[in-house]
Amino acid sequence: MSTYLVTGCAGFIGSHLTEKLLASGHTVYGVDNFDPFYPRNIKERNISAIRNHPQFQFFEISLSDYQMVRRVPLDEVDVVIHLAGKAGVRPSIQDPNGYIDANIVATQNILNRMRDAGKKKLVFASSSSVYGNMPETPYREDMDVSNPISPYAFTKKACELINYTFHHLYGMDILNLRFFTVYGPRQRPDLAIHKFIHLMKSGRPIPVFGDGSTSRDYTFVADTVDGIVRAIGYVETNSGVYDIINLGNNTPISLNDLIGTIAKVSGITPVIDRKPMQPGDVNITFADISRAQNLLGYQPKTKLEDGIRSFMTWFDQQYPSV
Ligand SMILES: NC(=O)c1ccc[n+]([C@@H]2O[C@H](COP(=O)([O-])OP(=O)(O)OC[C@H]3O[C@@H](n4cnc5c(N)ncnc54)[C@H](O)[C@@H]3O)[C@@H](O)[C@H]2O)c1
Repeated sequence: MSTYLVTGCAGFIGSHLTEKLLASGHTVYGVDNFDPFYPRNIKERNISAIRNHPQFQFFEISLSDYQMVRRVPLDEVDVVIHLAGKAGVRPSIQDPNGYIDANIVATQNILNRMRDAGKKKLVFASSSSVYGNMPETPYREDMDVSNPISPYAFTKKACELINYTFHHLYGMDILNLRFFTVYGPRQRPDLAIHKFIHLMKSGRPIPVFGDGSTSRDYTFVADTVDGIVRAIGYVETNSGVYDIINLGNNTPISLNDLIGTIAKVSGITPVIDRKPMQPGDVNITFADISRAQNLLGYQPKTKLEDGIRSFMTWFDQQYPSV
């Protein structure tokens, strides 16, 4: 059994990953600062079931502050899984500095801390956003991503580059995982599926940006977590590792089809409030997952309809009065 440090453990993906690692018998140190990007009470609820688990220890620490990062417990840790950060494309346009602090500065701090503690194994949460608007699909990891179209995208690409430098200088084994629109129970409230279902159940119109033809490679959270667990095993047992890996679903779904599927699963006819495309939004995300399949044996399994049903079951439990 291993000991892992999961940053961003109170967030959407981090809380699922932490549960999965604990259920497999590992020890997890979790770090989160309850960033106000969305309410603290949602994040506290995300970890309420594991907060008192005997093999879990929680540390409320901001990774953007190096004085606090010194308190991150690394002595026993086998692999750091760094998921903490500010997510989301549109808010990053309003607050680039906040994204630089929570993503770039925090990643640099955790790398410095790992170097000083002699720790060499890192799995990092990057994003499909780094691809911007590519002329070709599906997106492969060897494509040139030098033209990010949002601050969020450039902070994630910057982190991949800093990670490379630390791999080169200090022999750290690092996998950068590019997640593609993860959804499922506990999904962040700012993301489309959560937002749409909340609005539809409250009888309110849903804002649809553009003509509905934009597509996303929606990936169910259990599939993403399965990919992360495989990546952890890979860095833990190999050395000389630096790589970038898409963890997507390889099946883009248009916004119109997404809304149709939500309508079918929920039985609610949506009222659409059409809006112009937003700056920073990309037209499509579409992962080539062959590297993840070959290197990690990753194979996403969840169909969109099943994933949305699972989200709705969770939503109804959390928000019975909506
Ligand atoms: N959800 C997606 O579709 C998606 C897609 C691509 C990449 N990602 C990346 O995956 C990671 C997890 O995403 P998520 O959807 O679970 O987001 P989330 O916002 O639910 O979780 C991120 C967590 O990090 C914490 N955090 C933020 N800044 C911090 C700091 N300075 N110090 C300590 N903790 C801090 C937040 O409080 C939050 O709990 C993020 O890095 C995100 O950019 C997510």
